[in-house]
Formats: sequence, C-alpha cells, structure tokens
Amino acid sequence: MRRAKISIIGAGNVGATTAHWCAAAELGDIVLLDVPQTEGMPKGKALDLMQASPIVGFDSNITGTTDYADTKDSDVVVITAGIARKPGMSRDDLLGTNAKIVGSVAAEIKKSSPNAVVIVVSNPLDAMVQRAFQVTGFPPARVIGQAGVLDTARYRTFLAMELGVSVEDVTAMLLGGHGDTMVPVPSCTSVGGIPVTQLITTARLDEIVQRARVGGAEIVGLLKTGSAYYAPAAATTQMVEAVVRDKKRLIPCAAYCDKEYNVGGFYVGVPVILGSGGVEKIIELKLTEKEQGDFRKSVDAVKELVAAMAKLV
Ligand code: NAI
Ligand code: 2OP
Repeated sequence: MRRAKISIIGAGNVGATTAHWCAAAELGDIVLLDVPQTEGMPKGKALDLMQASPIVGFDSNITGTTDYADTKDSDVVVITAGIARKPGMSRDDLLGTNAKIVGSVAAEIKKSSPNAVVIVVSNPLDAMVQRAFQVTGFPPARVIGQAGVLDTARYRTFLAMELGVSVEDVTAMLLGGHGDTMVPVPSCTSVGGIPVTQLITTARLDEIVQRARVGGAEIVGLLKTGSAYYAPAAATTQMVEAVVRDKKRLIPCAAYCDKEYNVGGFYVGVPVILGSGGVEKIIELKLTEKEQGDFRKSVDAVKELVAAMAKLV
C-alpha cells in the first residue's frame, strides 16, 4: 500500500514542527517546501529529521525542496507559508503580505496536487483559508483551516491547570474566528463528563476563556521574535492524521459555511467531522441567544477581513 504523501509549504517554525510531529506519528512521507531564497534550509531540516528516525524509530521519507514538482500528487498539503506576528502586531496586520503568498502557493497546489486536501494555517487564518479556496477552486470540503483545534487546546490546558485535573479529561468546543473573536460553548465543555459550569464559577470561566482568546498574543509577547509553533503544529498534525487515517474526528475547524449557521459563504470555526474526504459533515449546534449573538459578531469580523483582503490582492 502506498504511504500517504504530505507536503508542507513553508518550512519555518510551524511547518518544520508539523513535519516533526507527522513523521514521529508515521503519518506518511513528507515533503517540506520553502522559497528558493532559503536555499538549503528545507533540505537541511528534512535531512536532520530523517537522521532522527533510527533513534525515534519511524519510517517516513522526509524530503526538502524548493520545487513544487517534488510535491506532485500529494494527498494532503499544509500551508504554513507567510510571515508570523511580532510583538505589537495583530494577526490581521499580516493580511496583505500573506494573502499574496497564500494566493501564489494555492495556484501551485492547484497544478501539482489537484486531488489534495488542503489545510491552511497561515494567518490571518479565516481570510487565508478563503483565499486558498478562491484560488484552488477545489470543493470547499477539501480546503480547511486550522484554528479551532489550537484554540480549544489552549482553553482545555487552562481549564485543566485551574481545576488540577488531567488535560485528557477536559473536552470542549469553540466556534467562530481564530483567537480574539472565538466563541466558547459552555454547554459543550465538560470535565470527566461533568458540565464545567458545576465545577467553576461563571466569572472564573470567563477569565479562562479570555486567556485562551489572547493565547497567541501571550506567546508572541514572551518569544518576541515570532509566534507559537509547538501547539499550532500539534493541532495541524491532528488534522492531517484525521485525513490520512480517515479517522472521522469531530473537531473544530475553519470550514466553508453557506447555509450552515446562516453564514453565507465564508470560512468560520465550526464543529466538523474530518476524514479522508476532508470536511465530511458540519455539525450545527443549538446555540443560546448569547452564543448566537457572539457567533454573529465573529462571522461579521471574518467578513470584514475578507472584504479588506479583496482590496489587497
Ligand atoms: P516562520 O516565519 O517561521 O515560517 C514561515 C515560512 O514561510 C518561512 O520559512 C518562509 O520562508 C516561508 N515562505 C514565505 N513565503 C513563501 C512562499 N511563497 N512559499 C513557500 N514558503 C514561503 O513562521 P511560522 O511561525 O512558521 O508561522 C507561519 C504562519 O502560520 C504565520 O502566518 C503565522 O501567523 C501562522 N500561524 C497560524 C496559526 C494558527 O493557529 N492558524 C498558529 C501559528 C502560526
Ligand atoms: C497563534 O494563535 C499566532 O495564530 C497564532 O498562536
């Protein structure tokens, strides 16, 4: 049986760390691609990772390249190409530069891997995934954004820290745009099966939600030279695994919603079933009036971002 072929465009912090997690989990053969100006960098990282394989014990071929011919007929393509935030920058400050980069990357993917599932990571995420969808022209189920798995992981981590329990026992669901406008759904948050509202006050829960919302900025403020990459790469790897192993994971992803949640043709974070076909189903939750209002605000922010992007590309 042929191994899955996973190409990662952008061999920087998130891209290379995603390659690392994917290789360690033996999800398939991996191609790491970056721009020609980086010269040997993607090849060097790929070779370095390959040399870890006898120690860690994984069988994956990892190749570094600057040529899309090496990514031909990938099953999954992850886009992490672009610039990352520095202190004082919002994700939206990346809009013009990254829209052009993601547009050019998407045009190459369309030619080289016409049947791939594309997972977009570059920021501002909700606009970049829309850009990749516009340029590839792929069915919406095959173009997905990574944000919700990371935002939910941050929320689950902070809840586990607060309650002194294992992160494995905290399950949660978040909706909406990446980070700042994300919408928690307390009725879908539980700890060992117990509704979170029985374990924590609403005021403290609100503080934890807020910390998760600005979780990306907290890391940028500490790192100073770039943004988070371990947890983003782990989140991306979970999505790659769901596709290559057809796991049917029910996880939050940025998915194209038209009639769903009355969004009208934009990418927003919603619960989906993710399998070999990409987004196989969007789950529509019953929301309270407050959650509906917050979700609407989040969708409006995404629409504004996409409108601003249209003037820049
Ligand atoms: P980085 O600067 O370490 O890596 C980006 C890489 O993209 C660089 O190696 C650069 O040479 C490459 N690149 C630029 N233009 C390219 C092109 N046209 N083709 C191929 N490669 C190209 O940045 P990092 O930390 O890896 O972040 C990457 C992106 O992911 C950023 O936009 C960042 O904001 C975003 N991000 C998104 C997250 C999410 O949850 N959606 C989480 C973390 C980061
Ligand atoms: C994050 O949330 C920067 O989007 C990136 O860490």
